[in-house]
Amino acid sequence: MIRSVVRGMGAALPRRIMKNADFEGMVETSDEWIAQRTGIRQRHIAADDETTASLGEAAARAALDDAGLTPDDIDLIVLATSTPNNTFPATAVEIQNRLGMHHGFAFDLQAVCSGFVYAVTTADLYIRGGLAKRVLVIGSETFSRILDWSDRSTCVLFGDGAGAMVLEAGEGAGSIADRGVLAASLRSDGTHKDKLYVDGGPSTTGTVGHLRMEGREVFKHAVGMITDVIEATFSAAGITAEDLDWFVPHQANKRIIDASAKKLGIAEQKVVVTVDLHGNTSAASVPLALSAAVADGRIQKGDLVLLEAMGGGFTWGAVLLRW
Ligand code: ACO
Repeated sequence: MIRSVVRGMGAALPRRIMKNADFEGMVETSDEWIAQRTGIRQRHIAADDETTASLGEAAARAALDDAGLTPDDIDLIVLATSTPNNTFPATAVEIQNRLGMHHGFAFDLQAVCSGFVYAVTTADLYIRGGLAKRVLVIGSETFSRILDWSDRSTCVLFGDGAGAMVLEAGEGAGSIADRGVLAASLRSDGTHKDKLYVDGGPSTTGTVGHLRMEGREVFKHAVGMITDVIEATFSAAGITAEDLDWFVPHQANKRIIDASAKKLGIAEQKVVVTVDLHGNTSAASVPLALSAAVADGRIQKGDLVLLEAMGGGFTWGAVLLRW
């Protein structure tokens, strides 16, 4: 059977780093509060010339280099983002053009922080359905542009960045020993819309709007939703937490990551954490964390890796793959 196998990873971060202490003159907060409640110590913030498209392009080029491929080898680009350069055309098409790629097709996918998990699942279906052999899956965000910088309960939590993955069709035996995407589980439930949303849009206010979040409410649901969808993925694949080599969760809050890992029985040393360095980069957070763990040699060929995310909507999901 066809399996969607990871061939390359790449990342791109804005030049400017903003430390927790840099907020202290802007809103009533402290490095101590932010670090203690979230685990975040710094985040990258895009300059005017750094956009979702430019960061996505840079991450895509890094992933192509890592894979030893060029844009000519790619059939499809799926970009997970909630902060597109324009309402339309899709920023994925802009990235396609920036890469000098004039064949194949590209589209954006919007599932907020769960975007990359949704995008990997989508790319896997295109590959297994025979519509694409190689897919660039990108998560790129510039959340700094939709933050209310006077709201201390949200502005300290998010950062900008991009991560990219090259997925390619490979042969598998249909067993859990195969390399590639092995199982996935996706969920959404719109009854939670008002707990995490942007208060503007083309069809309502005609403006871009600002991110609004009831953090405590999101926190309350997060661990249960994350662990449910992971248990569904484990059961679809016939594995347990013990079989995992690496857990790469969405990087929103270290306390959510720790509580989820504990509830699932995933050992602390198997958890990849980058929230301290990047903050919450929404759809970019999982590929940025993956890129870091691949670049420093933690994730090796043959390792069993679990991706997980939860975000606005609510949307949530998990993907199990063998590297
Ligand atoms: N600095 C200082 N104090 C603050 C700050 C700040 N930056 N922000 C809020 N506070 C205050 C609050 O006003 C509140 O004060 P009060 O008790 O006088 O009312 C107090 O700190 C405690 O606030 P809580 O909201 O209860 O703090 P909590 O411990 O829940 O931490 C946080 C807040 C970090 C937002 C947490 O709830 C959280 O991480 N929630 C989940 C967010 C998340 O995971 N989002 C993921 C999806 S993101 C996406 O999809 C785009």
